[in-house]
Amino acid sequence: MNHLKTLKTIQTPAYVADIAAIKRNMAVAERIKQEVGVKILLATKAFSMFSVFPFMKDTLDGTTASGLYEARLGATHFGPGEGKDVHTYAPAFTEEDLRTCLEYSNHIYFNSISQLNRFSKLVRQERPDAKIGLRVNPGLSLVKNSALYDPSSPCSRFGVQAHELSDEILEKIDILHFHNLCENMAEDSVTLINHISQNFGHALRTVSEVNLGGGHYITHANYDVNRLINSLKEFQQILDIKVTLEPGGALVYNAGYLVSTVLDIIENEKKIAIIDASASTHMPDVLEVPYRPHIIDSGEAKEKPHNYLLGGNTCMTGDIIGEYSFDTPLSIGDTLIFTDMMQYSFVKNTTFNGVPLPDISILHEDGRYELVKRFSYNDFEARLS
Ligand SMILES: Cc1ncc(COP(=O)(O)O)c(C=O)c1O
Repeated sequence: MNHLKTLKTIQTPAYVADIAAIKRNMAVAERIKQEVGVKILLATKAFSMFSVFPFMKDTLDGTTASGLYEARLGATHFGPGEGKDVHTYAPAFTEEDLRTCLEYSNHIYFNSISQLNRFSKLVRQERPDAKIGLRVNPGLSLVKNSALYDPSSPCSRFGVQAHELSDEILEKIDILHFHNLCENMAEDSVTLINHISQNFGHALRTVSEVNLGGGHYITHANYDVNRLINSLKEFQQILDIKVTLEPGGALVYNAGYLVSTVLDIIENEKKIAIIDASASTHMPDVLEVPYRPHIIDSGEAKEKPHNYLLGGNTCMTGDIIGEYSFDTPLSIGDTLIFTDMMQYSFVKNTTFNGVPLPDISILHEDGRYELVKRFSYNDFEARLS
């Protein structure tokens, strides 16, 4: 509770990583690793705050990238020189990008047969120690929160289909890759694992590794970690194969905040508070998924006596974070603390409208607040020309 007091005194807007919570999440990953013997990678698409990597690298085996710069970031900041993995997948590589990725990655995953056929020789020649993976579409829709995040949705562009996995193709690869979940609980992890085991047994016996992707929400209170552990143990026993998991969101779930200040309060049928953070630029998933972030000490709309629409500080009419209620009226200058703001937040930021980017900070276990980075006009200008 003390640390919340600290957050009410800082300059806003600011993303604040909570190291105690990160460590709690790492403990869950550590347990799965110890009990099953799997590798666990951080999907940096969800969380690329490299100043926090030192608190993660003792547990995790490396990073998994979705593109060129994430691959370089992982190689540069996640325990460089400590033998950490960098896995890189992209829906499609150019030859130039692939060559650069190979400088940083010891695992490359192709999304299609044509990319594999075009580039597998290049990978073997340029980086003989690198493993080649192929993404497979298991054709099993398990994502419930949004079709936008279901890799098995109709006409999905992700991964090859089961009938494309000929022996000739399997000879070219070392790993099969199944990323098919998003914020799913253990029953869906288990359904996926059973489905893969039953439908891809032949292919799995010809490769040496399998990557079961991300989206396993292992740190969520309702996620039955024992169920996952038992399922993975059984899977490994049957298939005698090395397993990798690459969660992103789960590793930083509920592990930090976006701290903002009320700038103005107006009224148009409802009370509207305008804050110095924005859904559009600072938490785009609020609009994209969409979802409603929690604010500490707030209630649902009309649940508590004082009700407000919360609006962001951009010109976009739809930059509304949601309708919230509070025990006491909001005032200009009040601090609002959004929770669970480490995943898919600052990695997706924009400087639309010239709105400043929030600070990036750390709340240490002893309550010390560390400002890691403050952005300026130069960061805005540098992305324009
Ligand atoms: C290939 C791949 N791996 C891992 C992840 C991480 O997923 P999550 O953050 O839901 O765990 C994603 C997310 O989109 C992904 O596309």
